[in-house]
Amino acid sequence: MEDQFVLDTPVVREFVTDVRAAIAGASSPQEACDAIRPGFAELLARSDWLPEGYQEPVPESGMGGGIGQWLLYRAGDGSLSMFSLVVPSGSATPVHDHLAWGLVGLYRGTQDEEVFAEADGGLELLERRALEPGDFYALIPPQDDIHRVRTTSAAPSVSIHLLTNDTGCVWRHTFDPESGERHPFRSGYVNVDCEDHEPAA
Ligand SMILES: [Fe+2]
Repeated sequence: MEDQFVLDTPVVREFVTDVRAAIAGASSPQEACDAIRPGFAELLARSDWLPEGYQEPVPESGMGGGIGQWLLYRAGDGSLSMFSLVVPSGSATPVHDHLAWGLVGLYRGTQDEEVFAEADGGLELLERRALEPGDFYALIPPQDDIHRVRTTSAAPSVSIHLLTNDTGCVWRHTFDPESGERHPFRSGYVNVDCEDHEPAA
């Protein structure tokens, strides 16, 4: 499969080229994330590159709660994806994992994020943080891979995800926040189809 630039603009192409070069030149996910940080911060600070259509919630979406997951770019080999996640005011994602490292940052609105770790007999809340536009963080599993975000602004929140898998199409997990029980989960994307994948073991 070829790389898919759903949002095919010079800004996105240039960013992806820089990201791929950073990943190729890095010896660890941590090092790659550090190299990508300046470009990612710049992207979050620019107001002119993400069309309104990718900042809209979607009723009946795979994430539930009207949450829209819009693919912007994905690598043909499934090694990288970039998407916007739109969470309506007052809505929250399920507790979920990503199973890949990368960067996640807030573009519009405000969010509360809760980070969990699997612990004996359930989930342990590790951290709760309030995010504003421009804030971003690295996700490097197994640490910090399980979280839930809730929109605290009156308008939907829009976050930009850059992760080293085809996040919308891989089988990952949601978690029951009380029992810690895992459930197979594939969120999909609003604007593109996933090929058929077998659930990961
Ligand atoms: Fe997430």
